[in-house]
Amino acid sequence: TPNNVLEQLSLKEKVIVVTGAADGIGLAVAEAMAEAGGHVALWYNSNDAAVSRAEELAHAHGIKSSAFKVDVSNSEQIEKGLAAVVEKFGKIDVFVANAGLALCKPILEQTLDEYKKQMSVNVDGVVYCSKLVGAIFKQQGFGNLIITSSMSAHIVNVPVDQPVYNATKAFVTHFGKCLAREWRDFARVNIVSPGFFDTKMGAGPEGLQEAYRMSTLGRQGHVKEIKGLYLYLASDASTYMTGSDLLIDGGYVL
Ligand code: NAI
Repeated sequence: TPNNVLEQLSLKEKVIVVTGAADGIGLAVAEAMAEAGGHVALWYNSNDAAVSRAEELAHAHGIKSSAFKVDVSNSEQIEKGLAAVVEKFGKIDVFVANAGLALCKPILEQTLDEYKKQMSVNVDGVVYCSKLVGAIFKQQGFGNLIITSSMSAHIVNVPVDQPVYNATKAFVTHFGKCLAREWRDFARVNIVSPGFFDTKMGAGPEGLQEAYRMSTLGRQGHVKEIKGLYLYLASDASTYMTGSDLLIDGGYVL
């Protein structure tokens, strides 16, 4: 690791996979990685704008970038997606398990199908991706997993009652900490817990305006304000950090 911190933050020659990269936080993260010189694989499910985004990033930053269609609730698609990334880029340095779904309802109003769908993306998706990329990390002898959780893993989020969504995030936060321990000989694992950000998901119902004001900074975060944290975790500036859960929530959870 270089001594100079700006050199530590460079992602030159690193290969980064980001799930849910077509929009929102995932796209901002993919941009951050490309801006720092990394080669990026944008995984998307339904929004194929990811294909042109990948081309734009490659063109703008002189890096390699491709989009891959992978449903993270489908382990076969993940396996194929990982193999395709390794074939194209040769290795995987960083995997950002960011894709998520918010079916935010009180449990008494939530159908069992909605419950299963929520679990399949937020829990199964993170477990499948981690297990399959972890095998690659172990074989390589290096790797770095970053999981997008939520401040909802820390608190009973208000004003919307959403016990299942909150609990999926508590699952992945604790899962990530356990993986940091299990993989200590070959990979780092850290967790990012965002508060309210201005994405499609963060737009939420009307009542949320009130909730934004409850944060210490009194407003929503803009996705450009989350880029630096993911860059830090992906880079060699954070080589002594593993198993950490980093809140970035405008001081909501205090
Ligand atoms: P978003 O809705 O803009 O992005 C979510 C992405 O996940 C989309 O690109 C979507 O296509 C993808 N996705 C959904 N199901 C998928 C599947 N089965 N396979 C592959 N991709 C799938 O939302 P946002 O805000 O960018 O969310 C990113 C992550 O941040 C999520 O894990 C979310 O739970 C988390 N988060 C967001 C907060 C916010 O206020 N925006 C707050 C706390 C956490």
